[in-house]
Amino acid sequence: MNKTDVVLGLQWGDEGKGKVVDCLAPDYKVVARFQGGPNAGHSISIGDRMHVLHTVPSGIFRDGVKNIIGNGVVVDPVILSEEIAAIEADGADITDRLVISTRAHLILPTHRMLDAASEAAKGASKIGSTLKGIAPAYMDKTGRNGLRFGDLLSDSFMEKYQALKAKHVGLLAQYPGFEYNIDEYEKKWLEAVQGLRRFEITDTEFLVNDLLAKGVPVLAEGAQGSLLDIDFGSYPFVTSSNTMAAGVCTGLGLAPSKVGRVFGIFKAYCTRVGSGPFPTELFDETGDTLRRIGHEFGATTGRPRRCGWLDMVALKYAVMMNGVTDLIMMKSDVMDGFDTIKVATSYKLDGKQVDTYPFDGGVGVEPVYTEIKGWKQDLTAIRDYDSLPAAFKDYVSFIECETGCRVSIISIGPDRDATIRR
Ligand code: IMO
Ligand code: MG
Repeated sequence: MNKTDVVLGLQWGDEGKGKVVDCLAPDYKVVARFQGGPNAGHSISIGDRMHVLHTVPSGIFRDGVKNIIGNGVVVDPVILSEEIAAIEADGADITDRLVISTRAHLILPTHRMLDAASEAAKGASKIGSTLKGIAPAYMDKTGRNGLRFGDLLSDSFMEKYQALKAKHVGLLAQYPGFEYNIDEYEKKWLEAVQGLRRFEITDTEFLVNDLLAKGVPVLAEGAQGSLLDIDFGSYPFVTSSNTMAAGVCTGLGLAPSKVGRVFGIFKAYCTRVGSGPFPTELFDETGDTLRRIGHEFGATTGRPRRCGWLDMVALKYAVMMNGVTDLIMMKSDVMDGFDTIKVATSYKLDGKQVDTYPFDGGVGVEPVYTEIKGWKQDLTAIRDYDSLPAAFKDYVSFIECETGCRVSIISIGPDRDATIRR
């Protein structure tokens, strides 16, 4: 019996999950997304092209790897179809490589409108949602009103669709002044739904468990990040799913005993898009430098990402909550020119020291920093750990010591080969 290994983000998303999953995928036969939806933007750089995936698992560019969209995912058929068209534009046919769970919920055009209306009504206290309809779709799931891929196969699909749409139209009327027109999107949506029927739509919990029983290695791919988890993130500035390792079980239909290694990805600094507490956020030139060198602009929305120093309080929390077995550090090369690097090792609130991640994500805390000497050397051409500068290894050791977890992969650029495995 094999176990499912997991790749997930330890911060607020955008840690580099796409690249890591694409790199690890050849070691596995299956890659499965277990939560989230098209709010994700997973970038994979192959040759001179950058591919951005929102719903399709990041193993899709590896021959012989099956990609599963699990029951925990919410899917917008239009976005999924566009992604598939972009992948197949190069002549590939991925019909046999993509499988969708009958239990995965559909994001309706009206879910997108509800997301937009809700965010507009919140004004300054908005979440900063990607406006892909994520929260309304998960609300319908937990409210037991949702429409699932399995419904597509039934004769009453259109009836169910119209009933849910009518409910949404009623809800949208509660937002005075919110105008919308879904006609065009709905047309594309209904076409996309039919187009997706060429893929295998099945009870993927049986598929995944059968594969594991046969000894086939499976990799679960997380979306968003641990600090955006609906239960343990910086609520209410979070997404609507369980982004942590526990989500693998409910999002794929796996028992906890079937989860193996947990690869936790973090950036050597921090970024966040959307609203919500971010204790180590930098509003100065250093923040601008991180954004500029790190190309920190959203892959899904294009928004500039908020940037700041590494936050050890938050990282240690994420390592604990996910049972991380291996750390993967991304984008350290972005700090190649820095004289000094700071890491928050605790917070201060009302004069008191705070060592654990607060329930509100750290509203009003002040970070307490440890300073570390920069390595001041271009890392991008280095391919083996021993050749890395001593100051860089000190940074890695510091993180390992604080988290109690080994950094087993280091990425020093977007390309597949810009990866150092220890
Ligand atoms: P990947 O998988 C970064 C953020 C949004 C917003 C909050 C809620 O690329 O790491 P939602 O659309 O889920 O209702 O938005 O969560 N967010 C992400 N931030 N990376 C992501 O995904 C994100 N998905 C959602 O910016 O603050
Ligand atoms: Mg992203």
